[in-house]
Amino acid sequence: MALSLTVNGEKRTLEVDGDTPLLWVIRDELGLKGTKFGCGAGLCGACTVHLDGQPVRSCSTPVDLASGKSVTTIEGLASRGDLHPLQKAWVEHGVPQCGYCQSGQIMSAAYLLKHNPAAEREDIVAALSGNLCRCGTYSKIIAAVESVAS
Ligand code: FES
Repeated sequence: MALSLTVNGEKRTLEVDGDTPLLWVIRDELGLKGTKFGCGAGLCGACTVHLDGQPVRSCSTPVDLASGKSVTTIEGLASRGDLHPLQKAWVEHGVPQCGYCQSGQIMSAAYLLKHNPAAEREDIVAALSGNLCRCGTYSKIIAAVESVAS
């Protein structure tokens, strides 16, 4: 079926089965590879994107739920080629080890800081508790988010 959604500010119309997970549309149909497949079951957070501003697990979100809505991926956080402050902080703090989960971590952190720009450490820990990191980079993740929180 034909389905339209806005991805990173650009309207896209696709022929796709409405049951297809949003993750695969983002990665395979649109070629945006920054959003990762981790567990495929809504448990790890690697696939987190924003749907109309809300963080969702794209692996377990059927694309028809995104029809007519706005999706932001890690690629869309940057503005006019300038990295989002969180992306800069990730670089400055050398957060990633394997890096696989980091897009989802940043998307969850971006949602937190948008709604709570002065987030405290406990807010950050709580907001990111659903994003798992097999390398255990949590202390650097938290430090990076704290450096952006005002
Ligand atoms: Fe979606 Fe793990 S890949 S939550």
